[in-house]
Amino acid sequence: MRIDVLTLFPQVFDGFVASSIVGRAVASGLLTVACHDFREHAKNKHRSVDDRPFGGGPGMVLMCQPALDAFEALDADPDGKPLRILLTPQGERLDQRIVEELASVPRLALLCGHYEGFDERIRALSGAREISIGDYVLSGGESAAMVLIDAVTRLLPGALGDEQSARDDSFSDGLLEYPQYTRPREYRGLSVPEVLLSGDHGRIEQWRRSQARMRTSQRRPDLMEDGSH
Ligand code: ADE
Repeated sequence: MRIDVLTLFPQVFDGFVASSIVGRAVASGLLTVACHDFREHAKNKHRSVDDRPFGGGPGMVLMCQPALDAFEALDADPDGKPLRILLTPQGERLDQRIVEELASVPRLALLCGHYEGFDERIRALSGAREISIGDYVLSGGESAAMVLIDAVTRLLPGALGDEQSARDDSFSDGLLEYPQYTRPREYRGLSVPEVLLSGDHGRIEQWRRSQARMRTSQRRPDLMEDGSH
């Protein structure tokens, strides 16, 4: 998979793209992440990418030309056109179902906004899918892009050492994950549940399933609402 990130702060991604699961996916060739400073597409004298809003009001608005030219420059690539995404608090809220959809396409292009927002015509003319990572406002889309890249990378076949672990993640089956334990068997008076030491894989599976259901109904009753659990 290839992900192009259009940002005014490409350096923010350096450590992220080199570390942990994402870093390993990049090193093994499963994933390419290319960060582009879209200021390079600004054609005006001062290379500015934003301007004051028509109608007045605080803050600055990202202008159409640099953002759209940056998206369009990616289409020239012989690998095919990426699915365009705008990171914005006004988008549909990212969840595991959307992450699965995005992980199934070969190329993504993520546009990270800053300032007060995007000129509305960037939305209309780019045809981008708008994604929010939650109901709060960040100062820029970069951290949202990292969230999206991280969640997508976990689903690329071979990105995790053990294929099982993405399947067992919270949300992969609509439930939160069951409790996990490792050594020692007892710590500060708290013991590992006996069933996990039993070696009985049937019982362990049953216990985990019931713990996942219990935890989900206590913490996230909204996830139980569709009745399939
Ligand atoms: N940019 C600013 N806030 C955001 C959010 N919540 N999600 C995605 N992009 C954003």
